[in-house]
Amino acid sequence: MPPIMMQQRPIRSQRLQDLPPYLFIEIDRRRRAKIAAGADVINLGVGDPDRPTPSFIIDAMAEAIRDPRNHPYPFDAGHPEFRRAAARFLQRRFGLTVDPARHILACIGSKDGIAHLPLAVVNPGEAVLGADIGYPVYRSGAIFAGAEYIEMPLLEERGWLPDLDAIPAPALARARLMWVNHPGNPTAAVAGLNFYAQAAHLCAEHEIILASDNAYSEVFFEQQPPSLWQVSGLNIEEFAGIEFHSLSKTFNMTGWRIAFAVGHPEVVAALGAVKGNCDSGQFNAIQQAGAVALDQSDHPEVAAMRETYRERRDALCEGLRRIGVFARPPAASFFVWAPCPKGYDSFAFCGRCLDEADVVFVPGGGFSPRANHYFRAALTVEVDRIREAIDRLGRLRW
Ligand SMILES: Cc1ncc(COP(=O)(O)O)c(C=O)c1O
Repeated sequence: MPPIMMQQRPIRSQRLQDLPPYLFIEIDRRRRAKIAAGADVINLGVGDPDRPTPSFIIDAMAEAIRDPRNHPYPFDAGHPEFRRAAARFLQRRFGLTVDPARHILACIGSKDGIAHLPLAVVNPGEAVLGADIGYPVYRSGAIFAGAEYIEMPLLEERGWLPDLDAIPAPALARARLMWVNHPGNPTAAVAGLNFYAQAAHLCAEHEIILASDNAYSEVFFEQQPPSLWQVSGLNIEEFAGIEFHSLSKTFNMTGWRIAFAVGHPEVVAALGAVKGNCDSGQFNAIQQAGAVALDQSDHPEVAAMRETYRERRDALCEGLRRIGVFARPPAASFFVWAPCPKGYDSFAFCGRCLDEADVVFVPGGGFSPRANHYFRAALTVEVDRIREAIDRLGRLRW
């Protein structure tokens, strides 16, 4: 037998190699080094709720996990009770009437649905439209499907909404899918029904499927953010659209991996067909507990969490202003998206905050070169730690 040689061809597929470089890598390395050296790091970087899942959901899970009916493979499109609870939530919160059997699909976190949707509805060589400052999975999902990702710039002067009138005609002709995300990560921008109506008309005219990522719909401080499906005259049986809702942020359930999509029956079924070939759904017990959560979306613990984020938001925005950073308080989401102090780009600013104050922010330049004078702070640490972060930053000369 000749010796077994190392293969010369790259292990990573071309589509993996095509993903953009991870620009947060340097800040991440410095953060890890600080923590390893024993520094008291205040991490305003992670968009992951810091408080535990409310106890009424844990209790529901404890009961569900003991029920042997929850132990086999889950149902393909989701547990019927979870999908019915999702429909009840949509009715209560947005006034929508949907058929849980045809319009709703359970997802293993909305990331699962977002990443797989292009595989379900976009052909190689077609294009996906999405924000240039946004959740990176819109782009990676498009690349995995062999599609081109066409950026829709988000600009501060437009309230961080894309200018739908400015999308070039050739892009509209090639596109098969358009992503919108409001309340947005990282910009926190909330869209009104006018925006969704404009997007829906444009997509209908150009035969583009419209996908709305509404993962932050329940983290709000002012008006409740709307759903795409509230657009007047939009019929879920006719309009090729889909919207993602997640239990992650609403109920502090990021680790549980539970979300749902609501949309046109064929779009939902196409996504379900891809997922049916990749995973076998989320554990039934988690779906049962998720149903209990959705049915109590107005539980006092959920409302209290919003108040906690509001208190943190106000402390952070006021504190930042004291050090010369004009941070507009977000109306929704748990992100503050703010311009860096004069003279700093985002990597230089976030680098100094970390090196000299042990405070982690996310540099906007990691999302897009267009965002290189902004940074993102997540409201996912307690208010006394936010004040401590501000005190430390205030001791530096800017
Ligand atoms: C805008 C946005 N959409 C979707 C997700 C995915 O959330 P999950 O998969 O937990 O539902 C995130 C996570 O941070 C996000 O920021």
